[in-house]
Amino acid sequence: MKFVDLDRQYQRYRYEIDSAIQETIKKGQFVLGKPVEDLENALAAYVGVRHAIGVGSGTDGLLLALMAMDLRPEEEVITTPFTFIATAEVMVLLRAKPLFVDIDPESFNLDTGGIRDALVKRQKAGARVRGILPVSLYGQCPDMDEINEIASEFGLFVVEDACQSFGAEYKDRLSCGLNAMGVTSFFPSKPLGAYGDGGMVFTNDNVMADMIKCLRVHGQRVRYRHEEIGLNARLDSIQAAIVLAKFAHFGEEIKARQEAAERYSELINQKIPEIKTPAVMPDRTCVYAQYTVRIPGGLREKVTTHLKQEGIPFAIHYPIPIHLQPAFKGLGLGPGSFPHAEKAAEEVLSLPMHAFITPEEQENVINGLVEGIGSKT
Ligand SMILES: Cc1ncc(COP(=O)(O)O)c(C=O)c1O
Repeated sequence: MKFVDLDRQYQRYRYEIDSAIQETIKKGQFVLGKPVEDLENALAAYVGVRHAIGVGSGTDGLLLALMAMDLRPEEEVITTPFTFIATAEVMVLLRAKPLFVDIDPESFNLDTGGIRDALVKRQKAGARVRGILPVSLYGQCPDMDEINEIASEFGLFVVEDACQSFGAEYKDRLSCGLNAMGVTSFFPSKPLGAYGDGGMVFTNDNVMADMIKCLRVHGQRVRYRHEEIGLNARLDSIQAAIVLAKFAHFGEEIKARQEAAERYSELINQKIPEIKTPAVMPDRTCVYAQYTVRIPGGLREKVTTHLKQEGIPFAIHYPIPIHLQPAFKGLGLGPGSFPHAEKAAEEVLSLPMHAFITPEEQENVINGLVEGIGSKT
């Protein structure tokens, strides 16, 4: 069993994916051009925004979004300490600072109640807080209406880190189209994945879209005339063609992931009361980039030891919150700074999840968990 079975997906759409790659090579469209434009147009229409701009990765997209917002050294951006490193890394690359706010332990997303308190405190201290970068972790958005409201009250930008949530619904809209900008990732194991790195930035703002397009090609709008300091952060054309081929099946795949998640949750709730299944808020959907449970009471290690013995794959997203990462020790935030994020890091466990997982495989995983919880090791 694989944690994410990309081979099964390839076998299903083999003809479409192979043709898309061949076409791109035959036409020699290796850098931007039609394959990237076709994907940008399809995904902008799907999300319901004016602009989608293909970029080299989710990390590139986040960096470009903050550059387009003109984030300056020493300025601060509110975000969660319980995320993948890229979310906060891009701030530091611009010599700006993450202003962490603890998570809501139910959803694992930013606790919106804490944002206002942090803002008031930092502004009193004279800090320049410029924006909020909420992460839609595991494939579910945080309370975006509340986040947008706080942002407009305090004059902040909002960029969604939607690297795990492409396709997720929030009220009657989609992730990536909920704020000033949204950024997703096509890393191969994502719900909509490429066969290498890739990402996309979404916005309704014409000026921001123009700036992102300019920055992704070394700051040029006209060839060899460089108006900004930019970088090479283009979406690769072959990757764009692959993602577009897979996108034709994306709706069915999300449904399959959601059904698999429901199956997991039913089985766990029936058989393993010690394990807490993911909570999806009533006004949203989750695309389950990760199906992540909580194993409290110090039992996680016992369970993972057993899963390893049985050859059942799993992952921990994430074992160390960002503020405790060695690379962030300069912030001076020790253990105890964000108790909910720290507890989550000790308790979360992601189970194998993809659109092609079978009920038998899921039962096998659950049996592994049941035995792991009951084992004496
Ligand atoms: C929450 C989050 N942010 C950012 C990224 C970075 O995306 P990429 O790997 O495409 O650079 C990822 C991907 O792993 C992610 O999960």
